[in-house]
Amino acid sequence: MQKKDELYAGKAKSVYATDDPDRLILLFRDDTSAFDGEKVAQLEHKGMVNNKFNAFIMQKLEAGGVPTHFDSLLSEQESVVKRLDMIPVECVVRNISAGSLCRRLGVPEGKDLDPPTFEFFLKDDERHDPMVNEYHIRAFGWASEDEVEQMKALTFKVNDILKQLFLDAGLLLVDYKLEFGRFKGKVTLGDEFTPDGCRLWDAATRDKLDKDRFRQGLGGVVEAYEAVARRIGVPL
Ligand code: TMP
Ligand code: ASP
Repeated sequence: MQKKDELYAGKAKSVYATDDPDRLILLFRDDTSAFDGEKVAQLEHKGMVNNKFNAFIMQKLEAGGVPTHFDSLLSEQESVVKRLDMIPVECVVRNISAGSLCRRLGVPEGKDLDPPTFEFFLKDDERHDPMVNEYHIRAFGWASEDEVEQMKALTFKVNDILKQLFLDAGLLLVDYKLEFGRFKGKVTLGDEFTPDGCRLWDAATRDKLDKDRFRQGLGGVVEAYEAVARRIGVPL
């Protein structure tokens, strides 16, 4: 497969065209950002760890019946993915209260949420990813009613698969964000699943092992990502 022009550079990944119109190359860079790009840094090895972490998780999800864009690992920091027509919303499920939920509602961090909550956010850094609901998504034509239902169902299916996968390694999946797109019309999981886009706590100590280490200046960011990767069996 031949790598062609860079199509898009995000905050932590870059996207390249290939000679196959249905395939893209995702480059996981060492860059990290938080607070909608306000805080940025370069963290050595992060690109490699996240590339392999994402590949491992996407393959588990695919095996569990979630259609994903993942095709194959290409190099230490690159993967081949299907080219999706992206839906510009983020799907967030929370099992335990943390982050913006606590800020918005004034609830303490660490409360078990039963049932888990589901939220949509518009992908728009300039407006700090405002929360939207399914009526906004349909009214503005970002996705159809059927696609909205599929995104919700698939996001909860991911929860069933990954909550257990992490728990088996002594980790709590606190919350996570997914992005979907369409591949030949079918709603398909895109973007990434890495500790950059979820919260993971040690089940015994409740130590934070995800991007909150960067957001909160706790240090040991990539070390924590690597520790999680090893615990769930990602070959690094
Ligand atoms: P939040 O508590 O900031 O709303 O985030 C909930 C989860 O979604 C958390 O695991 C981080 C993830 N997330 C992203 O990865 N990118 C984003 O832009 C947002 C809003 C959340
Ligand atoms: N992913 C967003 C950013 O990089 C939000 C966050 O993770 O805090 O700014």
